[in-house]
Amino acid sequence: MDIQNLLEWTDKQVLDKTGKHLDSLQESILQGIWEHQDYEKIAENNQRSYDHIKKEAWKLWQLLSDVFEEDIKKSNVRSILENKASSTIYNFVNSPHNNIRNHHVNVCRENNPYSENNLKKSSNFPDNDHLSPIIDLTKAPELRCNYGRKLELSTLKEWLDNKTRLITIYGLSGIGKTALTLKLVSEIAPQFDYIIYRSLENIPQLIALKDDLKQFFSQSLSTPLPDIIDYLSSYRCLIILDDVQN
Ligand SMILES: Nc1ncnc2c1ncn2[C@@H]1O[C@H](COP(=O)(O)OP(=O)(O)OP(=O)(O)O)[C@@H](O)[C@H]1O
Ligand SMILES: [Mg+2]
Repeated sequence: MDIQNLLEWTDKQVLDKTGKHLDSLQESILQGIWEHQDYEKIAENNQRSYDHIKKEAWKLWQLLSDVFEEDIKKSNVRSILENKASSTIYNFVNSPHNNIRNHHVNVCRENNPYSENNLKKSSNFPDNDHLSPIIDLTKAPELRCNYGRKLELSTLKEWLDNKTRLITIYGLSGIGKTALTLKLVSEIAPQFDYIIYRSLENIPQLIALKDDLKQFFSQSLSTPLPDIIDYLSSYRCLIILDDVQN
């Protein structure tokens, strides 16, 4: 996530809760921590003393802990804010971290010849009466810092732009398939009406998975559609099934 997006989002949460914006020093501290700077470096960059920055940072962590109702400190502020923001804002851009070279993730796709019209909202169905997109990442692991993978991300985005219907991401365990997918979601969410992540790690029965998906889709409409396929043909839906090998 881009630091500017995160600062804007955080400022809005603080404003909503306290009626006050973050001040420029608080933003600089957040930005510094985001860029993995220590208090000494942040003090130097802001022409303040180390003690002053440390004191202001401590106050900032108290403020954010109150606003977000979590114990926020220097060591966890980044992951907590990013995680919370990622479930509510979607116009993320890649942060320019080091590019880890990795040639071990294989990505393949299968293009189904669905017509473009299938992707448009059908007038036979009611409009999604909630704010789009409706996202359920409650079963997804936390997206922590994410480096590189620019090529894979741009490939996946291109396929989604081309309305590819099925994409399979495979590779060695721990290579970053889940992380890549969650990063992708954070960047492409506005293109979709519905996004849901489910892991098949515990080998759910197909019927249970279907019920779960149906419940997710139906909760957004005052008059739910008859079946999952009706949502798929009426709205742009992204269903992520992780750990499919199980
Ligand atoms: N691009 C990345 N930048 C930083 N950390 C990453 C990146 N990709 C993966 N990781 C970290 O590596 C670990 C393994 O990643 P992940 O769970 O996505 O792998 P996986 O391929 O889905 O593994 P499995 O097949 O076991 O599910 C996680 O802690 C994740 O946060
Ligand atoms: Mg995984």
